[in-house]
Amino acid sequence: LKLGIMASGNGSNFEAVAEAIASGELNAKTQVLIYNNPDAKVVARAERWGVPSLLLNHRDYQKREDLDAKIVETFQQFGVEWVIMAGWMRIVTPVLIDAFPNRLINIHPSLLPSFRGVRAIEQALATGVKITGCTVHLVVPEVDSGPILMQAAVPILPNDTSETLHARIQVQEHRILPRAIALAAKIYK
Ligand code: GRF
Repeated sequence: LKLGIMASGNGSNFEAVAEAIASGELNAKTQVLIYNNPDAKVVARAERWGVPSLLLNHRDYQKREDLDAKIVETFQQFGVEWVIMAGWMRIVTPVLIDAFPNRLINIHPSLLPSFRGVRAIEQALATGVKITGCTVHLVVPEVDSGPILMQAAVPILPNDTSETLHARIQVQEHRILPRAIALAAKIYK
């Protein structure tokens, strides 16, 4: 599988995919990383793994569609077949979605359809649910929707803060993201 990864920040999910590839758990190669924040920590991870990376700063584009067109162009240049949004904190448009039908994958820190959007962990805490988790799903135009590939449940503990809860969710994200990519490749060949 020729992967293109999109990330905005820390990049621990990028790393989890890289490790799954290195260990042979996931038969894939990351062709290129696209990131949108100049100071994203994911860049250093890509360097360590020898993955080429490209900054496409959303502030340089007037419309979401213009950024997405550049993303598509870049992925096509790098021969990307599957796109993984691993902590990509921007809304994507049909310009990107339609270029990779059934091959655009997102990871979200809740058990969808609960708690869509950027404050999923805070919302889970505020609502008082006792179980949350993470979801890997195919991307459709509606944000944090689309067919679910894999989920993992995570308990919310009495003294959880968004930091402690996010850390526990990420352990599960790192476990299921590589598996969900392999599953998608099997289902949607
Ligand atoms: C993850 O929790 C993911 O679910 C959310 O953004 C976070 C990215 O984490 N969409 P990282 O950058 O991979 O460490």
